[in-house]
Amino acid sequence: MDRSITLGEFIIENQADFPYANGELSRLINAIQLAAKVVTHEVNKAGLVDIIGSVGGTNIQGEEQQKLDVFANETFINSLVNREIVCGIASEENDNFITIQGQNNDHRNKYIVLMDPLDGSSNIDVNASVGTIFSIYRRVTPVGTPVTMEDFLQPGNLQVAAGYIVYGTSTIIVLSTGNGVNGFTLNPALGVYYLSHPNIKFPEDGRIYSVNEGGYLQFPQGIKKYIKYCQEEKENRPYTSRYIGSLANDMHRNMLKGGIYMYPSSTKNPNGKLRLLYECNPMAFIIEQAGGAAIDGYNRILDLKPTELHQRVPFIGALVN
Ligand code: AHG
Ligand code: MN
Ligand code: MN
Repeated sequence: MDRSITLGEFIIENQADFPYANGELSRLINAIQLAAKVVTHEVNKAGLVDIIGSVGGTNIQGEEQQKLDVFANETFINSLVNREIVCGIASEENDNFITIQGQNNDHRNKYIVLMDPLDGSSNIDVNASVGTIFSIYRRVTPVGTPVTMEDFLQPGNLQVAAGYIVYGTSTIIVLSTGNGVNGFTLNPALGVYYLSHPNIKFPEDGRIYSVNEGGYLQFPQGIKKYIKYCQEEKENRPYTSRYIGSLANDMHRNMLKGGIYMYPSSTKNPNGKLRLLYECNPMAFIIEQAGGAAIDGYNRILDLKPTELHQRVPFIGALVN
């Protein structure tokens, strides 16, 4: 582990890996890492906010307390809007995409960001880990015009960068620009992210399976059979079951320790629960870059042609041998 390389230095040193203009990637990542620090701070005092804000739900400045999903959403949007690089944002928390006019209202910015600003938000109530997931594309419509839905409905294989943030015992940003996966841990005393997990690859000997087994009876036959396979007493099985209830956190653990994550279709929800554009595509991009595969049960996630902003798909991500 090399503690001496910061996220900022890493981006500058590896700029050539990003196939576009110098400086664009660092501006994008800068917006994201700054917002992640603000969200870290807010997440860390989540319990306290309730105590301080108990009178009428307002804080000491008289502002109304916001749910952390809304807080995280606004924090990421403000950070991205202010850096003159992003022309449109889609978020789990917004019904429609946001158009960013840019300086002089000339629509000259080139990048689209899709995000799940707070992933696993029900974990907040019980002091458990949450995350953020983000996906970055170049716009497909001409610079100088407002973004359209076409810019947002690009298949995941056109992502130029993707990543996630885990707000756990420490905050870590895991990032890929299509040339491997690297993790940067925040030193909260200094406010600096250091390269802590260079070149993340799924371990070969994974023994974890992660699925919400409460839905077992509603899962397709193949998934049921696979879960039984994981539980069988044979060779190196039974595998061990781990499930946090935050895709970013569950996938992060499985990528470091080795294992499979599943959010399958069910009789109740034929398309599963996870959203293609800002949960599955960015995670699939990272998973593939770490040597794994991500499918909807039949097709590669990154090859799906999106039809709607908030579309759901079944999701399975793991190492493939
Ligand atoms: P979000 O908090 O952004 O709505 O996402 C929660 C998602 C996902 O991250 C997690 O893996 C899954 O929901 C958990 O769902 P179940 O409670 O159905 O297992
Ligand atoms: Mn989510
Ligand atoms: Mn969310």
